[in-house]
Amino acid sequence: MNNFTIRTMKLSEFNIVAKLVYDSVHTLCVNEYTPEQLDAWVPKNLYMPAFRRSLFRCFAIVAVHDKEIVGFMSTERDGYVNRLYTRPDWVKKGVATALLNKTEEWARAHKVKRLLLESSKSAEGFYAKNGFEKIGEIKSLKNDIEFVSAKMRKELK
Ligand SMILES: CC(C)(COP(=O)(O)OP(=O)(O)OC[C@H]1O[C@@H](n2cnc3c(N)ncnc32)[C@H](O)[C@@H]1OP(=O)(O)O)[C@@H](O)C(=O)NCCC(=O)NCCS
Repeated sequence: MNNFTIRTMKLSEFNIVAKLVYDSVHTLCVNEYTPEQLDAWVPKNLYMPAFRRSLFRCFAIVAVHDKEIVGFMSTERDGYVNRLYTRPDWVKKGVATALLNKTEEWARAHKVKRLLLESSKSAEGFYAKNGFEKIGEIKSLKNDIEFVSAKMRKELK
């Protein structure tokens, strides 16, 4: 069965979510990024205080199937989406779309007018399909390794 539900993430689920983020990036983004880039983007030691703190202030939600977390999304209170990841064995089953829909519902309820994000090359097509427009390109350095990401925006009507 491919059914799942969306709910708020609990802080006690931090380690499970950190592993999901690692597995997602290191499995689903291998065609667009080198191993060095993937390690710089999501290192093994993601279990760091900064990630934990960011979850405190964000709207953080998970997709759950049979008590297992199969997707995760977190968004700052101003509408900046900082993470969206689907567990590799759950891609293309509507998980990310459902997380995004829930986030949009939350944003509208809190009078957030637009969602903004920096998309990986791997996810740009997904966001475009879901109504985001590309408004620029961002070059950044993570551990001295260059990354190019797309700045994208969606106005919420
Ligand atoms: C991008 C990602 C979140 C999409 O998750 P998902 O749960 O597979 O997405 P969905 O199943 O909700 O996809 C919905 C639609 O978008 C399409 N889609 C999914 N990923 C896509 C992609 N990378 N490019 C283009 N279309 C995509 C699906 O085919 C589906 O289309 P359909 O409705 O016509 O069948 C997932 O592939 C992922 O975690 N990628 C690695 C991490 C990453 O790059 N995250 C973003 C960080 S900025």
